[in-house]
Order: sequence, then structure tokens, then C-alpha cells
Amino acid sequence: MSGPARQSYRVAPVARVGGAIRVPGDKSISHRALMLGSIATGETRVSGFLASADCLATMTAMRALGVRIARPAEHEVIVTGAGPDGLHASAAPLDMGNAGTAMRLSMGLLCGQRFSSTLIGDASLMQRPMERVAKPLRLMGARIDTREGRPPVVLHGGATLHGIDYALPMASAQVKSALLLAGLAATGTTRVTEPAPTRDHTERMLAGFGVPVRRAGACVELAGGQPLRGTAVQVPGDFSSAAFFIVAGCLAATDGLTIERVGINPTRTGLLDMLRLMGARIQVRERQDAAGPEPLADITVHAGPLRGAVIPPELVPLAIDELPVLFIAAACAEGETVVTGAGELRVKESDRLAAMAAGLAAIGARCELLPDGIRIVGGPLRGGRIDSHGDHRIAMSFAMASVRATAPIDIDDVANVATSFPGFPEVARAAGLALDEANGA
Ligand code: S3P
Repeated sequence: MSGPARQSYRVAPVARVGGAIRVPGDKSISHRALMLGSIATGETRVSGFLASADCLATMTAMRALGVRIARPAEHEVIVTGAGPDGLHASAAPLDMGNAGTAMRLSMGLLCGQRFSSTLIGDASLMQRPMERVAKPLRLMGARIDTREGRPPVVLHGGATLHGIDYALPMASAQVKSALLLAGLAATGTTRVTEPAPTRDHTERMLAGFGVPVRRAGACVELAGGQPLRGTAVQVPGDFSSAAFFIVAGCLAATDGLTIERVGINPTRTGLLDMLRLMGARIQVRERQDAAGPEPLADITVHAGPLRGAVIPPELVPLAIDELPVLFIAAACAEGETVVTGAGELRVKESDRLAAMAAGLAAIGARCELLPDGIRIVGGPLRGGRIDSHGDHRIAMSFAMASVRATAPIDIDDVANVATSFPGFPEVARAAGLALDEANGA
């Protein structure tokens, strides 16, 4: 599913970025709209859909399970829901590509079906931990095999699920969501307690499909057996994609850079709090034309001096996908930044702590890897060659470092940028970055 094996970027230094840009739709919300729409009764119309490799993997999987999904336009999707018992066995294993969200949420969605399913993915996904989902699903009655904790994941059909009361050992929206999806097909109540708040898109979207999710403190719960009704889903711009340009703007938007129509669900915007702690100038203007449960804003950032900060660990789950680009901001700040409580970064599309530390060192930044975080001392950056390890967020983060580097940054293995941000090079150039793409080598 990766494009040409060895795509790369060369990003030459530029002194400033600016203007007004838009980023594609939210990945987490696009996956969920397809999945909930598939088991709902009636039609679900999704606008602003993210047509990225990850979300298209979910779309292909839902079609293989017998769901009719039309795409009248690039970013519009109409799902004709199969209803609670309407999915059918897929003839072949479901290939989730690079998408952890697709695999983990599908485990919850499919473990209570009459038929069996096998879930596979690309080389990165085949190495990622799945027992964190399989274990609580087994407590609900599911029969699941993994390969020493990793995919392929085999979900055996015909299990009878019952609700459980489960305390998550780690802050993970994917595990929480998988349990809630399984809870829909379970008898009784499914209750999940989180060690720290994580993105709540599943909870918000379920309410839109007519299934209330009760929340009390760190607990979320739903009653099984409730039908979902198809609905309209408006997908906002992905805050995680906007994050790259928020940081570039904080470093180099002398006249301001605006990212329009970005989702600002408060369980996603920890990066703004972190950057403000570092002295960043960020304005968030909430838009009144948002339809549905997800708030939307235009975000404007201005360049200014950043100072290092000790990042409060409780903010980490609210910025889990934005930490790589925060590290770029830290490398350009005055003084030391320390991030801890971020051990989850080691089990993302790559070991993001190790990949970032190696890349930062390659462009002259001073940093020290910690078991669950990193210490970074800001200073001048030079050019250099970065191995993104096939991780989209590592690749895009280092592109932003070009606004402070003294020579070009070459970023290797960038094909997977298309898993979350199709059109990234064009948007980057529109913001003022000097990014060239190369194939081969
Ligand atoms: C996601 C949850 C997060 C995040 C991922 C998307 C989701 O993963 O890193 O990119 O859509 O629920 P974890 O649940 O593993 O933290």
C-alpha cells in the first residue's frame, strides 16, 4: 500500500511562511464515520471525508464485509448501512495497511459477528501491539488469536458478548473505542475507565447515530443492543495535520499563518497548550458554521520567540500525535524542553521517540532520549538527511524544521505521508515551504 518504495522530500531553508491554508479531513473521524455508518440502519452521508490511504483501507474493508459505499465526490461518501446483523464474511483477510485505528476499531466492530474475520496490515502494522484490545474483548466473551500479541488478528465468529467494567491500563482512544463498538453488540452495560482523557470522537459520533454514551468523570458507558440510525457527518480539518503548520507558523510566520476549518475538539488540542507554555502566539476563532458534535475553528499563529518548557504529562494524551512536531518547536526554542509520560510514542507507526531523537541529532539538535520521553535543548539547526522510518508524522515534522535550518533537509521514505495527509507537498508549498519531491534512489 505504500507508493513508490523510496520517495523522498528535499526541503530547502526558507525564512518565512504565511497566508491561509486548509488541511484535509480528520482521520479519526473519517474512520469512525465509515464504521458506524456500516452497522447503522439507513444512509450516512459523510462530507469532508479524508481520502487518505488509511481511511481508504477502512472503506475497502467495509465493502469487503458487504457494505454499499458510494463516493459521489472525492471528499463525500454515502454509506448504505447494513444494519446491526447485516455484515457478511469477507472472502479474504481484511488488509488495514498502515492504519492502527482501522485494525483496532475493527476488532471491536467484528468480534461479536456470526462470522470469522482475519485482520492484516503492512510491515509496520504487523509489528504493533494488539493484545491491548484483544485482552478486554476476550473478557467480553470474544474469541481472538494474535501472533504473539501482533497481527494477524483472527476474530472467531459466533461469540456471545457481554458488557464488562474495564479500567484501561494505558490512555488509548483506540482501545476505548474498540470496547464501545463491541459493547454495541453485547448484552448489558460496557463501561470503560480511562487513566487520562483521550479523544472522544467515538462517544460524540455515537450520540449522533442515536446511541447515548453516558460519561461520568473518567468513565464512559453504553448499553448494548441499541440500534444506530444513519446520519450526516461533517468531518472537520484534521488538527493533527494542522499541527505541522501551527508549529511552522510559530517559528516563521512573521505576518501570520492561518489554518482554516480545523477541528478543535478539546481532547485533541493539547499541542496548543504546550506551545502557549513555550510562549507561542496563537489565536483560535471558533466558527459558527460547524454542523454536528465536533467544534471547528480558524487558527492563526504568529512567529515569536519560544522558550523551552517542562511539558505537563497530563497534556501528553491530548497531543499524542503532535509530539513529533512539538519536538521540532523545542529544538528551535531558547533553553530546555522535557517531555515525559510519552512511552506510547514507542508503539506508533514507528518508535517515534527513537526516530525523532535520531533525526534531531542528524540536523544538529541536542537531545537526550529518555525511557518515556525526551529532553531537547534548543539551538541552531543545520541541514541533513532524515530517515522517517516510513512514518508519516516523522516525515512531515522534519519538513517543518526547514524554516530554521541553514541547509536543505532530505527526508527519506515519505510515501506513507499519503496515509494521513494526501496533498501535503502542495499545502506545504502554499504555506511557503520550499519542498521538492523525488522518486526512486
Ligand atoms: C487514534 C488514537 C490514537 C492516535 C491515533 C488515532 C484514534 O492512538 O495515536 O493516530 O483514532 O482513536 P492510541 O489509541 O493508540 O493512543
